[in-house]
Amino acid sequence: MSAGAIRRAAVIGTGTIGAGWVSTLLARGVAVAAYDPGPDSAGRLRAAVTGHWPTMRLLGAPPRPDFGLLRVLDDPATAVRDAELVQENGPEDEALKRELIAELDAAAPPGAVIASSSSGLPPSVVQAGCTRHPERVLVGHPFHPVHLIPLVEVVGGRGTGAAFTARALAVYEWLGKRPIHVRHEVAGHVANRLQAALWREAYSLVERGIATVADIDAAIAHGPGLRWSVLGPFVNQHLSGGAGGLSHTLAHLGPPMVQWWADLGTPTLTAELGAALVDGVRAELGDRADADLAAARDRVVVRLLAAKATEEALP
Ligand SMILES: NC(=O)c1ccc[n+]([C@@H]2O[C@H](COP(=O)([O-])OP(=O)(O)OC[C@H]3O[C@@H](n4cnc5c(N)ncnc54)[C@H](O)[C@@H]3O)[C@@H](O)[C@H]2O)c1
Repeated sequence: MSAGAIRRAAVIGTGTIGAGWVSTLLARGVAVAAYDPGPDSAGRLRAAVTGHWPTMRLLGAPPRPDFGLLRVLDDPATAVRDAELVQENGPEDEALKRELIAELDAAAPPGAVIASSSSGLPPSVVQAGCTRHPERVLVGHPFHPVHLIPLVEVVGGRGTGAAFTARALAVYEWLGKRPIHVRHEVAGHVANRLQAALWREAYSLVERGIATVADIDAAIAHGPGLRWSVLGPFVNQHLSGGAGGLSHTLAHLGPPMVQWWADLGTPTLTAELGAALVDGVRAELGDRADADLAAARDRVVVRLLAAKATEEALP
């Protein structure tokens, strides 16, 4: 059995992200105890998992979700009682998360990893209320849609033990995820900071009237985005240097890039700019339905993941 194998998990908060974790866990045959205080949480969760399943099937899951593995419970303490992984997905509210994680810490077995899906809260903040075993509390930040996108960012806080960070990385890998270890907590972790850097310049280009929303989307989706989904920014830059690789690229194109940095914008996200972005997206999409667009995106991502899996040369 792999180092990261688990049999029982608890998923606390089963909205958009929590439901994605439940599908991921059920597809791997893990028994899930779920808790969410919202109305009809059991019905909503089953509907969400059923909705994910056509995609899960394409990813190799069994024909139907095994709802025999899923228990939806009325209180979080009971849900985490025998869990090996506790994945917390409550609202992104600092005080609520601190209190909720402390409650989970008080009830979960000492060896369980308690991971918060928080998009931006540092793990030291979410573990601050824990009095029992703060060393097993960390951030395990997934990407939407969680049942499809492999990335999980694992971030330890001041009180997190290295053994639990290693355990979380192993468990996520066993679940079929592609975890990375963020070495120091920082607002937004890594991937959202990278996205924020790109959005900052994209918003600025619209603000300055240099390109339309549709043209910027085309520039990424039909340009560097195609390469970025196969190889990351560093390896792509290495390959663009020819025989000299990254050192040639840095010597040749590094100095002009440093000049561009000085010209990059810092947009002011005013109501007017927000409205221009929204109008730009509307103009780009015309009468396409968002649900059709999301379904098409997910089908393409499934095919891309399958194609990448066949290429042994890729890292
Ligand atoms: N949506 C994204 O793209 C995304 C991506 C990665 C991470 N996240 C993070 O995941 C977490 C959940 O986000 P979401 O988008 O699923 O939000 P959501 O609003 O869809 O779900 C939140 C759920 O938490 C439940 N809840 C409320 N109080 C609770 C409590 N005390 N205990 C347990 N559950 C409670 C709500 O009923 C709701 O179902 C947030 O921390 C967010 O930052 C979101």
